[in-house]
Amino acid sequence: MKNIEGMSILVTGGGSGIGTDCARRFCAQGAHVTISGRRLDKLEAVAAELGDNCHIVQGDVTVENDREAMLSEAVRHGRGKLDALVNNAANMYRQPVDGYTEAFLKDAFDTNVVSAMMLSSIAIPHLEKTQGSIVFIGSTHTRRAFPGASPYATTKAALEGLTKVMAAELGPKQIRTGCILPGAVSTELNLRAGLFTAEEAKDRYEAVAGLHALGRIGTGTEVAEGVEYLICAEWVTGVALEVDGGIGLGASNF
Ligand SMILES: NC(=O)c1ccc[n+]([C@@H]2O[C@H](COP(=O)([O-])OP(=O)(O)OC[C@H]3O[C@@H](n4cnc5c(N)ncnc54)[C@H](OP(=O)(O)O)[C@@H]3O)[C@@H](O)[C@H]2O)c1
Repeated sequence: MKNIEGMSILVTGGGSGIGTDCARRFCAQGAHVTISGRRLDKLEAVAAELGDNCHIVQGDVTVENDREAMLSEAVRHGRGKLDALVNNAANMYRQPVDGYTEAFLKDAFDTNVVSAMMLSSIAIPHLEKTQGSIVFIGSTHTRRAFPGASPYATTKAALEGLTKVMAAELGPKQIRTGCILPGAVSTELNLRAGLFTAEEAKDRYEAVAGLHALGRIGTGTEVAEGVEYLICAEWVTGVALEVDGGIGLGASNF
C-alpha cells in the first residue's frame, strides 16, 4: 500500500462537498493537493482552512485551457509531479425520458464524462512517471434506478465503463484506475441543480436514509476514505468500489 504523504493530487470540484472532504483528508496526511472549481470564493474558503498543502485553481473542467491550467498548477504545487487525479467535479442532471432535450444531455455528458476523459488523457505522461492513479466518482445511481435521473445515471455508468477500459489500456504503464460509487451524502449537488430547496433536500436525505442497509446517509469523509484506498492500493485497478452504506444492495424489508 502506498502512503499518501508527499503525494501530489489534483481533485476537481474541490471547493465543496466530497471534493473538499478528499482535500481535507489528504492535506491532513501531508499530501500536496490542488483543488479546482468555477467559484473562486468556495476554493478560497477551503484553502484558508487547509493551509499551505492546499493549492487552488479556478477553472471550468469543460474548457480545454482551464483543464491544462489545473494540471500544470497541480504538477507545480506537487513539486514537479502528479501522483493521482480525482475526477470529482460533476453536476446532477434530471430530466424525464419523454422530455429529453439534446442540449441538456450534451451538457451532462460534456461535464460529467468528456471533461474527465480529457483531463485523464493529458495527465497520463505525469502519472506514468509516478506509477500513479486516476479515480472517478461514480454513483449508486447505476445500482438503484431513480425515475427522472437517467441523464445523471448514464453519465455515471459511462465512468464505470471507462474505469475498466482505462485500467486495461494503462496497466502496462503501471497506471491504475478506480471508480467510487457513493451512496447519499448531504452536499450542495441537488441544490446547485435547482431541484430542491435546502429544507426539501434535508427531508429527502432523511427519507432516503432508510434505503441504505446501514440506515443512514454517508459523509464526504467516508467517501474520501474510499478514494484514498484506490489511490494507495497497488494491486487494485479497474474496480467499481461501492462506498454506499449498502444502498446499492437494493435491500428491503418485505
Ligand atoms: N452527494 C451525493 O449524494 C453523491 C452521491 C454519489 C455521487 N456523488 C458524486 O460526488 C461528486 C461530488 O459531488 P458532491 O455531492 O460533493 O456535490 P458538490 O458539492 O456540488 O460538488 C461538485 C463540485 O463540482 C464542481 N463542478 C461542477 N461543474 C463543474 C465544472 N464545469 N467545472 C469545474 N468544476 C465543476 C462544483 O464547483 P463549481 O460549481 O464551483 O464549479 C462543485 O464544487 C460528484 O461527481 C457527484 O456526482 C455525489
